[in-house]
Amino acid sequence: MSRPLNLVVIISGNGSNLQSIIDAIECGQVNAQISAVISNNPDAFGLSRAKKHGLVQQVVDHHCFDGREAFDQSLLETVNRYRPDFIILAGFMRILGSAFIQAYKDKILNIHPSILPDYKGLNTHQRAIDNRAIEHGVSIHLVTEGLDDGPVLLRGRYPVAAQDTAEDLQRKGHALEHQMYPRLIQWLCDDELKIRPDEITFKQQLLCQPIEFNHV
Ligand code: GAR
Repeated sequence: MSRPLNLVVIISGNGSNLQSIIDAIECGQVNAQISAVISNNPDAFGLSRAKKHGLVQQVVDHHCFDGREAFDQSLLETVNRYRPDFIILAGFMRILGSAFIQAYKDKILNIHPSILPDYKGLNTHQRAIDNRAIEHGVSIHLVTEGLDDGPVLLRGRYPVAAQDTAEDLQRKGHALEHQMYPRLIQWLCDDELKIRPDEITFKQQLLCQPIEFNHV
């Protein structure tokens, strides 16, 4: 068996996606290790989850820096200590700058609560309801310099009922997210999903369209 994939997970809040990854690792479903959980928010509940599971916790509080570049630089220095194979953004609510993204090009993943490219940015659930959408979903994508703009690797969908509130959609989305992130990381660990600078392959086929989670 190959060595476990080394992950750094970056969060800002509740950390339920972090929890789903921890659980998948602990039950042997995913051959990875989380070498650190980093939060920009010292009060993030996800830090307590990390502590409970004996994981290294680091805080890089954006309030303590004079501007985004200084914050990014400190975040980068913190991440570098752990030499991750991949950086997993799991509810990290800051925009990363170019220097950080270039330092880990093709190695930063983000989960976003919409079917990208629809509903980039914030409040995706309420915006979908306001638009009377009949379907909403979740995307996992590579992070590039455009906001929520990198190549989408995996996409999941769920129906929106007429009476659904934003909270209902958030609940449906989370249920999907907690299956999707561990599964995608498992594919990376097993080399089923390969991300190279010039091409992305899934199960030895060139990935031209996002993988549809409901179909795998
Ligand atoms: C998740 O729903 C994730 O998709 C979203 O934040 C939530 C974090 O939940 N991310 C974004 O909106 C990023 N633009 P969690 O802290 O319980 O994992």
